[in-house]
Amino acid sequence: MLTSEENELLTRTGPGTPGGNMIRCFWQPVALSAELPSGGAPVPIRILGEDLVIFRDERGQPGLLGIHCAHRGADLSYGRIEDGGLRCIYHGWLYDTTGRCLEQPGEPVGSTFHERIRHRAYPCHEAGGAIFAYMGTGEPPLFPDYEFFQVPDSHRWVHKYFHECNYLQGNEGNMDPSHPFFLHHFLPGSALQRSRVPVDDHRVTPAYNQEVHAPLVRAEEVEFGVRIYALYPATDDWTDVRVSHFVMPNTSAVGGGPVPPGDGCLMNWHVPSDDTHHWRFSMAFKRSGPLDPRHAAERASVTGSDYRFARNLSNRYLQDRNEQRTDTFAGMGPIFVVQDSYATETAGPIQDRTEERLGSCDAGVALARRMLLRAIQDVQEGRDPPHVIRRPEQNRLEGVRVTEERIPASMTWDAYRKARSSDREPTPSMR
Ligand code: FES
Ligand SMILES: [Fe+2]
Repeated sequence: MLTSEENELLTRTGPGTPGGNMIRCFWQPVALSAELPSGGAPVPIRILGEDLVIFRDERGQPGLLGIHCAHRGADLSYGRIEDGGLRCIYHGWLYDTTGRCLEQPGEPVGSTFHERIRHRAYPCHEAGGAIFAYMGTGEPPLFPDYEFFQVPDSHRWVHKYFHECNYLQGNEGNMDPSHPFFLHHFLPGSALQRSRVPVDDHRVTPAYNQEVHAPLVRAEEVEFGVRIYALYPATDDWTDVRVSHFVMPNTSAVGGGPVPPGDGCLMNWHVPSDDTHHWRFSMAFKRSGPLDPRHAAERASVTGSDYRFARNLSNRYLQDRNEQRTDTFAGMGPIFVVQDSYATETAGPIQDRTEERLGSCDAGVALARRMLLRAIQDVQEGRDPPHVIRRPEQNRLEGVRVTEERIPASMTWDAYRKARSSDREPTPSMR
């Protein structure tokens, strides 16, 4: 539970807000590379309450500019890609990816007026099939070198989804190892489960695939976010442990998606569009080899070409009560991200966290909120928040690994945590 002041601080991210200033300290995904094919049209986007246009110049460089032309405000996303930049079709002003105005063909020959124009522009960095932008002030931090960016294209997958709620609700959905037993549960004999593209699984059935509805959830703060432990007691002899992460300030590293457990992870970045809508950029990689391309098709099939869900709030997610009786717990089809959108959107455009009651399974959520509030205070007082990376030695991010291990039942969480805390070597397990 938060005070209404804390909830406002965490959920308001428009220009000039304390929460917005904090999130702007980090590189954020703003578009998929696939949205900007070579020679393609500029794309209008709203990110962090700012209306922007993203485009690719003739050299292939992505640029992110304020959408309203610096001249008299026309929409630059209707513009032409030519002559080294994006040209407004109202009077022909031409901008490069850094916001310099290269030409003003309607001004007298020899005019230097264009040299005094600096249009709003944010640095971009393209990696892993997405375009990231730094929308903060001052020198951008180093781009975080997550393992996702290190593997070949064939080993990873990226897609984006539009959500009709504040980013924090989506963000918090990743920190809760309890909900999959309910929201994402298939009933015994489920035909829809059999229809899914299979993910390579375990040699043995881990405890969390059995009827263990209440894992022991523990969380600890680490330098880049919050580490969340879910312990699934299986037998008198052994316990399965899954470790996932909240990664500052709006992403995660969790198991699931198209990745076999422990062989990569799914990073969900929840990027505010405005305070009541956000983009979820899902990025997954498999460490040991290529991903089955059928996974990409399956996961993209739930959205249209505008990345909005066919099952959505306006049609009650096409919930099917018959399916709910016979096949899935939620009755919303077999794809988890659809079920997640129900869970996060129906809490309201901005969840009122003064009315909630957190349980023990929410340990990660509670800790992450405290960290985010402190990070906002850091920025207000002129400091970098945690996980803003300035030095190459800070950019070794092995600790973000999602792991899954089998440990002796007699091992306590604290003993396991300490054994694992080097962040480099997995704890010796029973497998
Ligand atoms: S409004 Fe864009 S050039 Fe005039
Ligand atoms: Fe989920």
